[in-house]
Amino acid sequence: MYNFQKDFPLIKSGKTVYLDSGATSQKPKCVLDEEYSFYKSFNANPHRGTYYLSEKATEKYNHARHTVAKFINAKFDEEIIFTKNATEAINLVAYSYGLENINNQDKVVISIMEHHSNLVPWQKVCKTKKAKLEYLYLNQNLQIEDSELEKIDSNTKIVAITMLSNVIGDRPNLEKIINKAHSVGAIVLVDGTQAACHIQIDVQKLDADFLVFSGHKMYAPLGIGVLYGKKNLLENMTPFLMGGDMIEYVNEQSTTFAPLPNKFEAGTQNIAGAVALEKAIEYISSIGYDTIQKVEKEVFDYAITKLKQLPYVDLYVSPNSTSVISFNIKNIHPHDVSTFLASDNICVRSGNHCAQPLLKFLNLDSTCRITFAIYSTKNDIDKLIDSLNKIYGKFKKYIG
Ligand code: ALA
Repeated sequence: MYNFQKDFPLIKSGKTVYLDSGATSQKPKCVLDEEYSFYKSFNANPHRGTYYLSEKATEKYNHARHTVAKFINAKFDEEIIFTKNATEAINLVAYSYGLENINNQDKVVISIMEHHSNLVPWQKVCKTKKAKLEYLYLNQNLQIEDSELEKIDSNTKIVAITMLSNVIGDRPNLEKIINKAHSVGAIVLVDGTQAACHIQIDVQKLDADFLVFSGHKMYAPLGIGVLYGKKNLLENMTPFLMGGDMIEYVNEQSTTFAPLPNKFEAGTQNIAGAVALEKAIEYISSIGYDTIQKVEKEVFDYAITKLKQLPYVDLYVSPNSTSVISFNIKNIHPHDVSTFLASDNICVRSGNHCAQPLLKFLNLDSTCRITFAIYSTKNDIDKLIDSLNKIYGKFKKYIG
């Protein structure tokens, strides 16, 4: 099997074991080159100049949008709005759709495993509109039971749900959730942030009304994100951010807005980021999701088997996770564990993973978390296990 670490300059020497791809992925050389090449050869502000460079920047930006639309099977290019990340995309929907369409007595339903970015904006909408925020909880197996979906009822206007939990790796049954939401007239926002790197997204097949993801978790640079929205919904929403490029005509006291997608893209956008995201999509497509899933599942299964052999480790993982493992060493704080792992050049995340309600639901304060990408290897896991054994060896006389 090809060693994909060779494609990633920062980790190709093998000195750093990078197991924090859920926080941000490493970037392949082709993506870094593409961003550099934009600034080196095409840098100009799109939509504004009549000269070659500006026209070229516009063309490249539009092409990136087209590639993103094809990547997630959107019907129209203008259903793709570039944002700075998934958080901004969710805020856009919360402010421009949520505040306009939620009223007193209405309900927003989310799951207990949402990242704060798909939770706090809905708290804001519900508080402002005096609506109810209701949670789908997990069973002992860390999954949503079908009976929880009864909470999606005729008062529900919005369901916001992750495609893949960043803490326990669960992949809720979106087909059932979306069908249920649509049967009561609610719209659904899918948070695809953790999923885009691992799972083929097809917004038409899913019938998602909105879907968001961040480029930086799928091999693209930081600072570029995507909001997909069904055209009829986006067309009827008011703009989120106001400024240049999103207007049609500005009078002293009033403004009319540009058509999609510009209506939602105020100010100069991250063109280099969009172009590099397009390259990241090409990189993923050149490997194919079948290979990505096969490679990651092999490493994931190996890691689970090895971690289960350590009697001092507790695992918090959904049965359908293939890329996320949360764990703790009994009686050692996860921050201590991750700090010791760092001294062996092993990068893992520890903390509440921006999911405090989930951690509280699980009776936890924090965990260590390892997350995989195409470059993860069994060798990385061997180094992790050696280091965990060393840490436990050091601490065991104090913790009994
Ligand atoms: N949301 C990112 C994570 O889960 C930062 O690590």
